[in-house]
Parts: sequence; structure tokens; C-alpha cells
Amino acid sequence: MSGSPNGPPVVEAVGLTKVFSDFWFRARAVAVDSIDFRIEPHEIFGLLGPNGSGKSTTIKMILGLLRPTRGRLQVLGHEPEDVRVKSRIGYLPEESYLYRFLNPLETLDYYAKLFGLDRSTRKRRCGELLEMVGLNQVGHRPVGEFSKGMARRLGLAQALINDPEFLILDEPTSGLDPIGTRQVKDLLIELGRRGKTILLSSHLLADVEDVCDRMVVLYGGRIRAEGTGDTLLADTGRTVIETPRLRPETVEAVRRTIAQSEGVAVESVHAPRQRLEDLFMKIVEQARAEQASTSGALHGGRVAEFLAAEPEGTEVVRSLAEDRPAPAPVPAKPAQPAAPDLSELLSGPSQPAAPQPPRTAKPEAPKGPVDRGLLDRLVDGDEGRST
Ligand SMILES: Nc1ncnc2c1ncn2[C@@H]1O[C@H](COP(=O)(O)OP(=O)(O)OP(=O)(O)O)[C@@H](O)[C@H]1O
Ligand SMILES: [Mg+2]
Repeated sequence: MSGSPNGPPVVEAVGLTKVFSDFWFRARAVAVDSIDFRIEPHEIFGLLGPNGSGKSTTIKMILGLLRPTRGRLQVLGHEPEDVRVKSRIGYLPEESYLYRFLNPLETLDYYAKLFGLDRSTRKRRCGELLEMVGLNQVGHRPVGEFSKGMARRLGLAQALINDPEFLILDEPTSGLDPIGTRQVKDLLIELGRRGKTILLSSHLLADVEDVCDRMVVLYGGRIRAEGTGDTLLADTGRTVIETPRLRPETVEAVRRTIAQSEGVAVESVHAPRQRLEDLFMKIVEQARAEQASTSGALHGGRVAEFLAAEPEGTEVVRSLAEDRPAPAPVPAKPAQPAAPDLSELLSGPSQPAAPQPPRTAKPEAPKGPVDRGLLDRLVDGDEGRST
């Protein structure tokens, strides 16, 4: 097994196959058909594909819940059934299976006990997670009364209770409202920044596009495409230039320059439309500002503190104090390519056209202290709280 600079792969599948058979061992469905892939440490990896393409089956094999029919599969350097890997994994199943008569606090406490966490750790983590997923207001209501999205939020909290290094999420945003969806995406980006490895399955293309470093697209149990968002999505044959509103004379000058330098015509000039997601957020933020009441989920808060990696440098300082070698830093994720400069593009025919950045670039991972972004803005009075 060859390792990347970050260490051995978190998942390595070679020729992985799952055939579901009937009672007479006759093949009924080839769910996963000889797929090869690797998930590297600290990577957010997307499994994309239409209904029935084999996403959940692949995940269940990684979890050791289903046995592969053929092929090799290693998870965190062990066989998937190996109990040593279980405590290092968090899993959100496709359907939220929660005990109807327990409330969210009891639910989380129950899972925390399964991981052998002590009483005070359980109490702290349950509180922080409920606040993070916006359920602290309904912490004492039985889960059986929850809406689908509220149950999904609790499922996500449950998947994080053991502070897993490898998080597996099967359709994490199914049933969530746009705010919940945005928060989950922000949370995953933040967890990725903190060094977690995440496997995410979805058929919602925007989820995968916004969050994942690398992805595979499955169809009929086979991998049809694989790569980073940039390599799969970049349309290198076109260039988009975005600026604040320009005067018509300037647009005309730009048209002429482009025609002269590149010998091509500008195809369209228009004001971009606001995304429906942004409009929805604005409406909800306004309702919150007006203190309109809701019995549903609140909007979630900051990322639970216990999920935080130590602040940069802490481990180095400690290792110096203890006179042992400092750990290798977690390599930063590669930055997005810089957008092409307008002046460069217009400067003359000798300049080659700069490649176009992907349409919706994955948000840059923030540096320094936790960037709570949208999570923050949606939480009343959260300004100025330390992370
Ligand atoms: N327990 C099972 N017994 C028989 N066939 C199964 C079983 N589980 C899954 N399959 C079949 O395997 C194929 C892949 O199913 P899978 O649940 O992995 O798809 P998926 O990509 O997760 O789809 P979805 O987006 O609908 O969740 C389907 O044809 C499905 O019918
Ligand atoms: Mg599925």
C-alpha cells in the first residue's frame, strides 16, 4: 500500500464488487461493479450518482455492514470489520434511525455511552452538538415528534459525538431546508479544515460541488468519472470576467479590445441574477430579525468546541516543552487558482487567455481561528463570543 505525503489512505478499494443474490445464490443485482478508489487523509471525498447507482452499498461495505463479493477494501489500514476502526469513524445513515421516545439529549447521551465517554465529557459534547445543529431549544421533546429535517440534524450530531477522524455521511442534506443545507456544507468545510477525512454521498450535485475536494461519479455500480471539482468542472474553453457594474462606453471598449486581441466577439453582457439560496437566506434572516416565532429547528450555532483541532502551533509548543520532535504540519489544501486579471486579458494578442475558474468555486478554507461564516451570522447575539 503506497502512502501519500499525508500518510496511508483512509480508504483503499481495489476491484470492489457487491452482487446481491437471491435465496438460491443467483445474482439478483450487481450493486457495485469492480471499482477502484482511494480516500486520502484530510480529504472531503464525494460519492455522486443517481438513485440505485451503488453509493449506499459502497458505504455499507466501508463500514463493514456488508461483505464485498470480490475485491479488496482497507479502512484506516484495517479490514472494515475490524473493531479497532469503529471508534474512529462517525456515520450518518441514509435514514435516521432514532428511538422515538428518547429526547435529543438522551439520544446523544446514549450514543456517547456506547463510545465509553465519561459523564462530564458526555454532558459537554451533547450540549455543544445540540447547539451546533440548532436543536437546543427542543432538547427535551421526544424525537418521535420531530420533523424529517430536525431528525436529520440530530443524526448529524450523533455522527460527531465520538469526535471521529473519519466521517461518513450518506445523503447528509436530505430533508434539510436550505439553511440547514448551507450549514451542513459550511460545517463539513470547517471539519475538513480541521483535518477530518469525510466521505459524503449525494445525488444533490450542488452539495458535492460546493464541499468536496475530489469525487467519483457512479452509474450502475461503476465509476464513470473521477477527479477534483476543478478538473471535472472547469470549462477551459471559455472565460468569464466579473466586475462591478460598468458604463456602456467601457463595455464597448472591452468589446473592441477583445475583438482586436482575440478575434472573438463578446457573446453576452448582463447583470448576474441573485441565487435563490441567497434570497431564501435573506428572507429568513429578516424573519429572525423581526423575532418571528418557530417551533422548528433553530439555525444552529458555532462548531462544537470539542471537534476543534488544537490551535496551530499548540502541538509544536508542547513538543518543544517535552523535548520531542515537532509533528509534521497538516498540509494546507491547495488554494483556488487566482481569477484572471482583466488588465492582463486586455493587454494584447500575445497574452494567452487565462483558464476560467470553476463556476461555483468551493469556498476557500478560512485561516486562523474558526470561521463560523454563515453559522455565526444566523445565531443571535453570537457576535464576539470566543471560539
Ligand atoms: N439488500 C439489498 N438486496 C438486494 N438488492 C439491493 C440491496 N441493497 C441495495 N440493492 C440494490 O443495489 C443497487 C444499488 O443500491 P444502493 O442503495 O447502493 O444505491 P444508492 O446509490 O445508494 O441509491 P439512492 O440514491 O437511491 O440512495 C440497487 O439496484 C439496489 O436495488
Ligand atoms: Mg443510498
